[in-house]
Amino acid sequence: MEKPIHQVLEELTLWLKFQKDSGVDLIHPEVAQSLERLDMAVKRRKNAGQRTVSADLSMVNSLSSLQAIVEQCRACGLSATRNKVVFGEGNTNPVLMIIGEAPGREEDRTGRPFVGKSGELLTKMLRAINIDRQEVFITSVVKCRPPSNRTPHKDEIEACLPYLQRQISLLDPKLILCLGGVAGQAVLGVNSSLSDLRGKFHQLHERKVAVTYHPAYLLRFGGNKQQHLKRKAWHDLQMLQKEYDKSRQKRPG
Ligand code: URA
Ligand code: SF4
Repeated sequence: MEKPIHQVLEELTLWLKFQKDSGVDLIHPEVAQSLERLDMAVKRRKNAGQRTVSADLSMVNSLSSLQAIVEQCRACGLSATRNKVVFGEGNTNPVLMIIGEAPGREEDRTGRPFVGKSGELLTKMLRAINIDRQEVFITSVVKCRPPSNRTPHKDEIEACLPYLQRQISLLDPKLILCLGGVAGQAVLGVNSSLSDLRGKFHQLHERKVAVTYHPAYLLRFGGNKQQHLKRKAWHDLQMLQKEYDKSRQKRPG
């Protein structure tokens, strides 16, 4: 009969403690072998489980059902420290989808993307190219806040990526703007640096993807450095605006 792993863990811990307290300080090779077998079995289950998650997502045909699944997700360690899952929000039939890196403190508290300082700057950046926040869909690569806003780890990005990919398919945007290197690399599946990725469009199937500086990064610097970075971001945004206006005109309705 299958048992939940926490129960096995409790039983095993008690048993090991009991052995130790009774003066046993070496484990019989057969027991050690059983533990190794157990470890292998759990790893196999985990791998099989991960495959099932992504395979199953192709059957999820609405954004709201996907959201319900993501809100229950415990596929990576970030689930232990999050307050709210930040699925993303905005126009569900968007020309443009915007993808950040990970929720921060305000996002984790409210469950909404880009509502802190970075969000304010993002809203201004969009206004500058004549785009209203409500016209776009906004989300991030990982949906749960990393502790102290550290960069999400590779395994966390991998665990969360199937959700982002399903969001992209369901929302079907013509254009994607990635904010920061982490988002650019995750979406395009490459390892290139931000300076290599920005300044041009990348083709992702039938979509065009642009990558620019994350607003949090722009806010980190003052003076000349910030001006210099903002000029480059402005270049990226103008490039985006041209495509956006073209796609907006073509869009039915
Ligand atoms: N930065 C991000 O990348 N995503 C958010 O939702 C907020 C800040
Ligand atoms: Fe799941 Fe993504 Fe949250 Fe990790 S970050 S627990 S994969 S929703």
